[in-house]
Amino acid sequence: MENMTVYIAPRFFEQELKQELEHYKLPIVEEKGRLFLVDAKPRQLAWAQNTWLEPFFMPIDSVGDAAKKLKAIQRNWHNHPIDLFRRAKLIEEKLPPMRFKPHEFGQNSPNSPLGAWALWDNNTLLLSARCSSAFAHGECLFMENKIDPPSRAYLKLWETFTISDFFPKENELAIDLGACPGGWTWVMAEQNAKVFAIDKSPLDPKVAAMSHVDFCKGSGFALEPKDCGEVDWLLSDMACYPERLYDLAIKWINNKNAKNIIFTVKLQGSTDHAMLELFKEIENSSLLHLCCNKHELTWIYGEVNLNYQKKLDFTKIRF
Ligand SMILES: C[S@@+](CC[C@H](N)C(=O)[O-])C[C@H]1O[C@@H](n2cnc3c(N)ncnc32)[C@H](O)[C@@H]1O
Repeated sequence: MENMTVYIAPRFFEQELKQELEHYKLPIVEEKGRLFLVDAKPRQLAWAQNTWLEPFFMPIDSVGDAAKKLKAIQRNWHNHPIDLFRRAKLIEEKLPPMRFKPHEFGQNSPNSPLGAWALWDNNTLLLSARCSSAFAHGECLFMENKIDPPSRAYLKLWETFTISDFFPKENELAIDLGACPGGWTWVMAEQNAKVFAIDKSPLDPKVAAMSHVDFCKGSGFALEPKDCGEVDWLLSDMACYPERLYDLAIKWINNKNAKNIIFTVKLQGSTDHAMLELFKEIENSSLLHLCCNKHELTWIYGEVNLNYQKKLDFTKIRF
């Protein structure tokens, strides 16, 4: 295999990744749990939590030999367990210790390369020194704030800002469509942005009372872009059909007054990959599965996407 790539599916979404691989006719050579070995060059897939960019098989004589060979390539590795868990653990214990502690929001994502390996059989490792994500298994896990935000949805914005190394700035204007109970509004207000929140239901009173937060009861689809000035952040976590959200995205893009857009694309039943393709085709945008997304994807557009793509360039990923 000349152009091998390994994709790691998000937990519980192996089927979605498999369907996406099939949609692009990328030949799956082997599938082990969340790991898909594919005979094709890497490409940016929405349902890949992590992509191993240069995987290859390496024969090993023993646990010590495996660790020695990995260390000779680079320092930082994470083990993706697929089988032979005890032996894999022994190899892991012989590598330089990695402390995968939860990420503190506000800090940049790690800059040093993090390789991935799996013990394929007793005498073979599958490994890649370069991966698309700086986080083990592509999972950016945070030291959570269990007190202030009224819902766990805040993690979606934390993750988006962290993996793109791009954060809202003071006094920027954010419009939050489908804001209730207010996790996203809370994140933006904490970053000192001015937030205009819209929902059919009210915000949590603590969030509504934050300075720079204005709330309007109504539909996010009723707000006309032409009636708004420059918007730094257009956000939507509305529960709605992807088709409707896509039309909304196009309406705002055509009006050219939103610098950054972050939309959650909620999916119901079986995933419509042709529909998702429409989001992917929008210029200067990416469709991703954040590790805190469930059966939904996050679509990002504008400067935040440029920064996200720059981070991928850093890994020399070629899509
Ligand atoms: C998943 S919740 C949003 C969670 C929120 N982002 C947070 O961080 O707490 C989805 C919200 O979308 C709202 N919603 C659904 N359709 C809407 C519409 N057409 N206009 C405004 N809000 C809508 C619902 O009322 C619900 O509060």
